[in-house]
Amino acid sequence: MPTRRSVLVSLAALPLAACTDPIGDDDDSALVGDDDDSATGDDDDSATGDDDDATDPTPEPLPEWVVEGTLDTTSFPSAIQTSDAHPDSVLVALRTIEPDLRLRLGQEIGGVEHLVWESDVLAAPEGILTAEITALSSDTTYLLSRGVHRVERRSDVVQFRTALAAGASRSLRMAVTSCLGRAGAPWRSLQDVASEDLDACLLLGDTVYADGAQTLDEYRGFWDEALGSDGLYYMSLATSFVSTWDDHEVDNNWTWSEHGDRVDEALAAYRESFPQRPGPAADRVYRTLKWGDAAELIVLDCRADRGDGLYISADQMGWLKDTLTTSTSRFKIILNSVPIIDFSDWIGGISADDRWQGTPAQRTELLSFIEDENIEGVLFLSGDMHFGSVCSVSGSGDVGAGLWEVMAGPGGSTVNPMAFLPPSWTDQYDVVVAEWNTVLLDLDPSTGEAGVSFIGDNGSVIAEKLLTL
Ligand SMILES: [Fe+2]
Repeated sequence: MPTRRSVLVSLAALPLAACTDPIGDDDDSALVGDDDDSATGDDDDSATGDDDDATDPTPEPLPEWVVEGTLDTTSFPSAIQTSDAHPDSVLVALRTIEPDLRLRLGQEIGGVEHLVWESDVLAAPEGILTAEITALSSDTTYLLSRGVHRVERRSDVVQFRTALAAGASRSLRMAVTSCLGRAGAPWRSLQDVASEDLDACLLLGDTVYADGAQTLDEYRGFWDEALGSDGLYYMSLATSFVSTWDDHEVDNNWTWSEHGDRVDEALAAYRESFPQRPGPAADRVYRTLKWGDAAELIVLDCRADRGDGLYISADQMGWLKDTLTTSTSRFKIILNSVPIIDFSDWIGGISADDRWQGTPAQRTELLSFIEDENIEGVLFLSGDMHFGSVCSVSGSGDVGAGLWEVMAGPGGSTVNPMAFLPPSWTDQYDVVVAEWNTVLLDLDPSTGEAGVSFIGDNGSVIAEKLLTL
């Protein structure tokens, strides 16, 4: 396998003069023809540089976009991944065997697809490119393609939607899964759910099982395989991602003392597959993504931040509490790779040190904080256990009994045999799903209702639950 290099390109940083084929306008913004912010509630034009409509009352009409070239899945074996959408920008990652290419951004306006921006020729001499596309409008669906420079070959067109602006709110629909093991590839439940009208796809960890990898190229090989699989390919066409990692992105139940020498390589390969916004700690993945007043996606790092008897560091715990307290969103969705459910009444203490249950003081600290501060709209999402469920995080009368956790997936890892024997002696475990699945999560901020539907590999609904948070 050739050595490849990830190239970070902030497209907003490119002056338009560097773009060889500016489309339909000559201002300094990275996105041209973007004159409808008032309709989208995007009130931060000053930050995007798109503030010159008043001086250009008759902008050139946008050209209709007829996607150029022929689809070539040899040059582009995986789709473009878009991730960590903000109201005005999105991160992009792509793989190609071509040395250079162009990105093209389209938007459907009035039932017609228009080309609204085209990049300069971007070099990807070693096969991987990561970039940020900025100056976008909030809560807007965009189309993105890439083509080989001067050659009529292109990739599939992917779609993504920018996040809601601050203060905006509407219902959201998310896909959620975890644990994409080879046993269930190509992950048909992801492919099925990709046909829904999604705002984002949330990946809760073990997206690859890279056990045994040690070098950057070895880690990249696992990501190449996963991104080329139908499930992630079709989901990449449909929407952007927000992801966290669990252990298998590095190694099974890895520890800093035994595997610390390969974490940098594993994290680099992960981030060039699903790029992430920077969080408070550079070598951790915890961060938050705001979707206006509807939902805040609070991404935890439950693996790299363990130590000194703590499940997450004191710094991450403080950040989590601050984020929960200051959030203005109706829903606070916590992406928690390993569950916070107390399984004492069912699975007992088996492998409890691998989840919040094994650090009871910190678990109680967080749950008590949420209860004591009366923080509404909290929903934990998790994976790792290899079965799906909708559970109260604690038994009746215990701290956290009023909080819910949805375990989504596995998308393709071997189903945990425990799930075939759900407990009948307690009502803590409301729904248990013993099939490969992806969850369709519908969030309605006007009612506080969260609809949870488990979709199986044949596209059917396995189980449903309506929560009021
Ligand atoms: Fe897993």
